[in-house]
Amino acid sequence: MPALSAKTSPALTGNVTVPGDKSISHRALILGGVAVGRTEVTGLLEGEDVLHTAECMRRLGATVERLGPGHWQVDGVGVGGLIEPADILDMGNSGTGARLLMGLVAGHPVTAIFTGDASLNRRPMARVTDPLSRMGARFVGRAGGRLPLAVVGARAPMPIEYRLPVASAQVKSAILLAGLCAPGETTVIEPEPTRDHSERLLGHFGAEVRVVDGADGERRVTLRGQPELTAAPVVVPGDPSSAAFPVVAALIVPGSDVTVENVGLNPLRAGLFDTLIEMGADIAYLNRRVEGGEPVADLRVRHSALKGVTVPASRAPAMIDEYPVLAVAAAFAEGTTRMNGLAELRVKESDRLAAVAAGLAANGIAHEAGPDYLHVKGGAVAGGGTVATHLDHRIAMSFLVMGLAAGAPVTVDDVRMIDTSFPGFAAMMTGLGAVFS
Ligand code: S3P
Repeated sequence: MPALSAKTSPALTGNVTVPGDKSISHRALILGGVAVGRTEVTGLLEGEDVLHTAECMRRLGATVERLGPGHWQVDGVGVGGLIEPADILDMGNSGTGARLLMGLVAGHPVTAIFTGDASLNRRPMARVTDPLSRMGARFVGRAGGRLPLAVVGARAPMPIEYRLPVASAQVKSAILLAGLCAPGETTVIEPEPTRDHSERLLGHFGAEVRVVDGADGERRVTLRGQPELTAAPVVVPGDPSSAAFPVVAALIVPGSDVTVENVGLNPLRAGLFDTLIEMGADIAYLNRRVEGGEPVADLRVRHSALKGVTVPASRAPAMIDEYPVLAVAAAFAEGTTRMNGLAELRVKESDRLAAVAAGLAANGIAHEAGPDYLHVKGGAVAGGGTVATHLDHRIAMSFLVMGLAAGAPVTVDDVRMIDTSFPGFAAMMTGLGAVFS
């Protein structure tokens, strides 16, 4: 396992861009693959997760080609037009790819077998197989519905109305993708709004999607089934979840002044930046614009004295992937940062609550971790620890960021997984002045 250490670094300075948004990249390939015509995608994330989705869409009949860096084209088969893949669909480390494609396949009269790496094959799938079974698909998997798992798609999928038991954009999206092949209206009711890239892109490709906000923050998303999706160009903005790493690094390394350009700021993704600003972060949104239907800005970030805050549980869906790096920012803040409503962190690429707590402990940071909360007591960060990443890219990147401002180097045991979402992470950070060895 290739390890890497991050050392106390001089001020980070410069302008950088981060790779394309992972969530939008998966969806652009998937929807392009069932649209009629040729979809051109620019800014696509070429991380391993998305490359797995590209390969699986090929196996399902779409023609997916790379024209240049981040520039891809997809010739779709039309809704209902997937072919049965000749071999197993390997989703690698990607829960998003697996769950979204299980939804798409569930609505088609084909059988496909899904597998993934050791991390993905541990993750719960019943959250998608339960609603997709109600739509008529059948599944044979391991205990708890885990991968490897066979999906027998429905010959005549039925539309459903389904209330999500957990706030999950992946589950919502899987149901909507299956609903593409069902007659009538498929409705997903979210207890709390989650990232809406599927809704936005379905609309962009010509589907009829209605979104209605109800009482108590609930949201109803309704898709009219059997649309003819029409190919449409997709411009993918920079991933806010990847921007999070240079942003937090600039905040904690004294003297830093970094601009991260072209960051997607969908309000259902931007919870980390809101939280950091509440903590006293100097983050300026420059050149705000709308690109490819998503709000985008350049973020100028300067080193800041941070203060601990309480992060409301209701914000969790808008920053669910950012708690590991927020915990790092919190370690450098004055006072305690309280993060609540974190149960979903336990079923990400790793048990992120446990992995973050262990990483904090290894580096001398006082904290308290409960079933669904994490409290971090900030102050001087000793560092000097080695962090187990458990095949989780965000654990690796978060603790490398910690090492840049800690008293002694922070080592992560395995950096291979960083390429799933952020190819070029170490080079980009080194370009800003970060010291790794
Ligand atoms: C994603 C949704 C989130 C997030 C993941 C990407 C998506 O997962 O953690 O990285 O693209 O829909 P959940 O839907 O399981 O919360």
